[in-house]
Amino acid sequence: MADTVVGATPDPHASGSGDDPSRRDFIHIASGAAAAGAVAGVAWPLVDQMNPAADTLALATIEFDLSKVAPGQQVVIKWRGKPLFVRNRTPEQIAQAVKDDGANLPDPQADADRVKPGKAEWLVLVGTCTHLGCVPTVGGGEYGGWFCPCHGSHYDTSGRIRKGPAPKNLEVPTYAFLSDTQIKVG
Ligand code: FES
Repeated sequence: MADTVVGATPDPHASGSGDDPSRRDFIHIASGAAAAGAVAGVAWPLVDQMNPAADTLALATIEFDLSKVAPGQQVVIKWRGKPLFVRNRTPEQIAQAVKDDGANLPDPQADADRVKPGKAEWLVLVGTCTHLGCVPTVGGGEYGGWFCPCHGSHYDTSGRIRKGPAPKNLEVPTYAFLSDTQIKVG
């Protein structure tokens, strides 16, 4: 009888509580949900209170460490309330973009004019579709750059619009290299 009573009062720290996989999974999920709730419920109001006025926000700059982005990868960071794409392009992706400089581009711009001199691997873009502002997915579409699933806009590996309703290339924000691995955006 005593064993039954003890078992009905689970101790999450007891080693025996992990014997049942379904129970263990539930505890992990529940813990994760509680943690997420804590972040959503507590962190956001704090951040919100610290939000600067709109005119200050418009001037905001951020610094980003490029060493976090492996070749072929994209990282999305938040800047002025928008997603910012930081993509470390492969030599093949750069070559394709340069080759397409001569293609029939809806918003003509050379790839070299969308990157910093000697830093062609780094493409920094505002990650909102120039049609109606959805966030395009990396690596999709017919040109291997980005694809906007909202209405089917295809961007190439330079972020230039190639097909679909978007009228403009993905925007290159103002940014500068502070060192080989550090950029400042804004
Ligand atoms: Fe991207 Fe319409 S918002 S295609």
